[in-house]
Amino acid sequence: MIELKNIVKTYYPQKSTEVKALKGVDLKIEKGEMVAIMGVSGSGKSTLLHILGCLSKPTDGKYFLDGEDMNEAKRKQVYKIRNEKIGFIFQDYGLIEDKSVLENVMYPLAFSKNVKFLKMKKTAQKAIADVGISELARKKASKLSGGQKQRAAAARAIVNDPDIILADEPTAALDSKTADEVMALLKRLNEKGKTIIVVTHDKRIADMCQKTYVITDGCIKEDTQ
Ligand SMILES: Nc1ncnc2c1ncn2[C@@H]1O[C@H](COP(=O)(O)OP(=O)(O)O)[C@@H](O)[C@H]1O
Ligand SMILES: [Mg+2]
Repeated sequence: MIELKNIVKTYYPQKSTEVKALKGVDLKIEKGEMVAIMGVSGSGKSTLLHILGCLSKPTDGKYFLDGEDMNEAKRKQVYKIRNEKIGFIFQDYGLIEDKSVLENVMYPLAFSKNVKFLKMKKTAQKAIADVGISELARKKASKLSGGQKQRAAAARAIVNDPDIILADEPTAALDSKTADEVMALLKRLNEKGKTIIVVTHDKRIADMCQKTYVITDGCIKEDTQ
C-alpha cells in the first residue's frame, strides 16, 4: 500500500547550506502492518513521516500510495487523499487548547463537503467513544491530562476513518504507564485493520510493533534482531 523508492529530502535553510535529511530511502509497508521507525534525534524520522503523510514533497524519489504516484498527483488530489486516507498524531498533541474535545475531533470533518453538522457531531462522538473518553467530550483540551490529550488527538486522527495512522513520537511527553495505554489504543486500532506507523525513540514502544526500521543519518534499514 505504501512504497517509497529512493526518497531524498534536502533542506536549504540558507542559500549556501544544505541539509541532507534523507539520502535515498526505500520502504514498503503493507496494509494492516504496525511498524516502528526509530533513530536518534535529527536522523530524519519526522521528515520521513511528513513525506509519508503528504505534508511535504521529497526532493527526489518516488512515493506510491495505493499504487498512485503521489509526486504526480495534483495538489487538490493530494489534499483529498490525505484527508481520506491518513490520520496524524503528534508528540505535542496538536489540539486547539481553548476548544472542547468534541470540537477538536469534529475539526477534520469540516473539510469534507456536504456533511451536516449533526452527522459530523455523531461521527466525532463515535470516534471519542472508540478511544474511551466519552465523558470528556465537553471538556476543553486545556483541562485534560497528557494521556487524555493524546487520546483526544487519536480520536481526531481516526474520525475520518483513515486507512493509515502516522504517529510522531506520540508517547514522548507521557509517563510510561500512560504511554502504554496510548500504545494499547494504537494496537487496538491496528487490530481493526488500520496501518500504523509510529516514530519513536523508545525501544520498548518499538517492541510493541510488528516491525522496526532504524534511520541512521538519512538512511533506513529494517532492524531484524
Ligand atoms: N524545515 C527544515 N529546514 C532545515 N532543516 C531541517 C528542517 N526540518 C528538519 N531539518 C533538518 O533535517 C534533519 C532531520 O530532521 P528531522 O526529520 O526533524 O529528524 P528527527 O525527527 O529524526 O529528529 C535535521 O538535521 C534537521 O535539523
Ligand atoms: Mg522528529
